[in-house]
Amino acid sequence: SSSRPKIFVTRDDFPGIELLKEKAEIEVFKGTQPSKDEIIAGLKGKQAIYCSLNDRIDKDVLDACKDSLKVIGTMSVGVDHLAWRLCFERGIRIGYTPIILTEAVAELTMALLLATSRRLFEAHNEILQNRWSSWSPMWMCGPGLHEATVGIFGFGRIGQEVARKLKAFRVKKIIYSRFSPGEIENDVGAIKVDADELLKESDFLIVLCSLNENTQHFFNKDRFAQMKPSAIFINVSRGGVVVQDDLIDALKRNVIKAAGLDVTTPEPLKADHPLLALPNCVVIPHIGSATYKSRNEMGEATSQNILLGLEGKPMIHEWKG
Ligand code: DGY
Repeated sequence: SSSRPKIFVTRDDFPGIELLKEKAEIEVFKGTQPSKDEIIAGLKGKQAIYCSLNDRIDKDVLDACKDSLKVIGTMSVGVDHLAWRLCFERGIRIGYTPIILTEAVAELTMALLLATSRRLFEAHNEILQNRWSSWSPMWMCGPGLHEATVGIFGFGRIGQEVARKLKAFRVKKIIYSRFSPGEIENDVGAIKVDADELLKESDFLIVLCSLNENTQHFFNKDRFAQMKPSAIFINVSRGGVVVQDDLIDALKRNVIKAAGLDVTTPEPLKADHPLLALPNCVVIPHIGSATYKSRNEMGEATSQNILLGLEGKPMIHEWKG
């Protein structure tokens, strides 16, 4: 009936949208990436949107749908694609998907640590290039995690889970830094340090912060210069925390040893991008949360968040800033 809420869904392959169909009228964008104009058109007369980090919901979009939009459900833990402060001013509620993906992202972080330090892609490529001539003593060596000092920049749920997993690799020391005051009680003996010390001390530096005005472009030329030449830089946060040209330069000039990136600027990257030509850089296409379980549960939670939000009930996970 016409009393059913109307929801715009920004792509046709989101998990969990069957849940919406039971209780709402949904309009699904035919395809995978609506433009800003297509988002605005799709949102006309809709009370809610099911979106992802691909969909920028900025002031223009919010202005265009200000008479109808009540709820945003994003299938992500990151909310940097949403003008969320403006949403709060306008009483628009935001559902997101923390916790659900913590294990998957922490696992992927471990994979990137090992892929970079033990040079897995480079080594595989050696075989493909017919350069595997014999077992050789110092060929394809890299630093191990064992006895390393690992720095975690952004020590939230995912950072803390990575720290737990690192314990099993018998690292020497886990240090972390964050912008919020206060230390985080943790069961792995991770020590809070300031950002300068984190940069200076880390053999591996893992970025797991959210992208916001404090963290945007934090990792620039000067920061890479503070790091050890033997350091490995891992980013599983957002491409925007890095001045990417500075990173490329640091990798080329061996200011740091290597990098492992699940996130880049832009996304997607084209195959001829300079980042992909660097032998000491492992790039994967933003797959941190991509386990079947995590993605299916993120989708279900997104639908439930939207429906609960439309009913004026507490969401499973509501972003409150
Ligand atoms: C997120 O959820 O924000 C990740 O970047 C994708 O799962």
